[in-house]
Amino acid sequence: MSEHQSKPKVLFVLGGPGSGKGTVCEGLVKNFHFKHFSTGDLLREEVKKGSELGKQIDGFISKGEMVPGDVTVTLVKKAIFENAATNPLFLLDGYPRNQSNVDYWRQVMRDDVEVLGILYLNCAEETMKARILSRGQNSGRSDDNEEIFKNRIKVFFSETVPAIEAWKRDGGKVFDISSESTKEECFEEASKVIKQMELDRPDVSEIKQYVKAKVDPFIKPLIVFLMKNKPDNVYSSIQYWMSTEGEAIRKNLDKK
Ligand code: C5P
Ligand code: MG
Repeated sequence: MSEHQSKPKVLFVLGGPGSGKGTVCEGLVKNFHFKHFSTGDLLREEVKKGSELGKQIDGFISKGEMVPGDVTVTLVKKAIFENAATNPLFLLDGYPRNQSNVDYWRQVMRDDVEVLGILYLNCAEETMKARILSRGQNSGRSDDNEEIFKNRIKVFFSETVPAIEAWKRDGGKVFDISSESTKEECFEEASKVIKQMELDRPDVSEIKQYVKAKVDPFIKPLIVFLMKNKPDNVYSSIQYWMSTEGEAIRKNLDKK
């Protein structure tokens, strides 16, 4: 990451299977400058490649079990850093799904990415089940059926919920919203959470850094020039300085 590029920021989006993670993220990208990644999709893409790793991943997904955290964090890291230069704001849905995901995230990402918190979609088990069974009619996913749903929901309560509780205990932010009713209402609640984060507010330390690197190098030499020459027409004198000494400074900065 270059000195002036801002750190990528990530909002995790969690909830049980069928809670509406993907749907709410699709809505949010239309109104905020997020880039959305579904961890499940990243894993399924690897499966589609038919690689040895893909076959191993498929073994977990088709049973509704968790893929080992080291595998998942590698895919997540790649997705973030391949896109960080053009869009440093991410929604990561379906991550971190258990304590192993959290531990690998901390170990691999360290301070390189700022976590905004977890957006948690609260939904009744029956509602989630009905949604998954309805989605299963067309999704083509090996895990969208009643039998595997049972395991996915079990894993959700035994692994994901405790990991979110631990996240909270460690001082991490969790934004709890309901995804029980319509997607419009869920989107409305999620939007409120995002707005209060004031993500558009400029980061003062970034501005300071920018001024120090891009503005300061011109100020002192320009003042010296003006003091020495005491021009009658300051405006045209600055213009002249900008095209000579100032231009040389600019070229030098571009080289860095
Ligand atoms: O989030 P989604 O429902 O698409 O996840 C599907 C499956 O992908 C999960 O049941 C699990 O097998 C795998 N997965 C995982 N670790 C994650 C996210 C998804 O193992 N962090
Ligand atoms: Mg999804």
